[in-house]
Amino acid sequence: MNSVDIGTGLFITLEGGEGSGKTTQGEMLNRYLQDLGHPVVWTKEPGGTDIGQALRKVVMSNRHRDMVPETELLIYLADRTQHVKSKIIPAIAEGKIVISDRYHDSSVAYQHFARGVPMDTLDFLFQRLAGGLVPDITFVLDISPETAMKRIEKRSISDPGSLSKFEEEARSFHRKVRQGFLDISRKAPGRVKVIPADQAPDKIFGQILDILTPLLPPTTSGDTNS
Ligand code: TYD
Repeated sequence: MNSVDIGTGLFITLEGGEGSGKTTQGEMLNRYLQDLGHPVVWTKEPGGTDIGQALRKVVMSNRHRDMVPETELLIYLADRTQHVKSKIIPAIAEGKIVISDRYHDSSVAYQHFARGVPMDTLDFLFQRLAGGLVPDITFVLDISPETAMKRIEKRSISDPGSLSKFEEEARSFHRKVRQGFLDISRKAPGRVKVIPADQAPDKIFGQILDILTPLLPPTTSGDTNS
């Protein structure tokens, strides 16, 4: 499946709009797989490395609302390149399971579908800079922009300064992001599985496990480092 042959581990990504519950599912999956005895690395984009944390502050800041889409893309790709080369590939090469909260499909949904950067630009930079590593399996937690906006609005009332520039975007922006993810799954149905995210977390998790379990490598008991 992968153009890059990097070892025996497994690369899982969680994708979706804001407020779709990716982090909750990542946490549950991390714990579940570790309990089974798998060595797991649970990570995220942007910000899965020290350098990525610094880039995350720049790209997410409300002070940078005037950032042009191409700059935004380049920052996410800088974060991804560092993340893939210094963390994801080494972990997979050691036979670990990597779970990433967001990866390249987010760039396709946000920077291409919602912001309008051409797809060939994304493809070129992803292949040339970030190595073009394709996840083994991707779960898109699908949520309607209406539900997402409600969750975001609720948080903005309880914690007014907490919203990122993306969360402040209009409903039309979130609609494009959602359509982007659905389009990605239509084009790569074997890899990208859409799970309705307006369900209880346990139900969502059960659906993820049904798909994931047959793909899991044999456990190496006792080795649970992350
Ligand atoms: P984050 O706080 O991680 O939010 P969430 O909990 O919704 O994942 O914020 C990441 C933000 O960055 C999110 O709004 C999506 C955006 N993003 C992109 O626009 N392009 C990308 O390539 C990535 C990885 C994220």
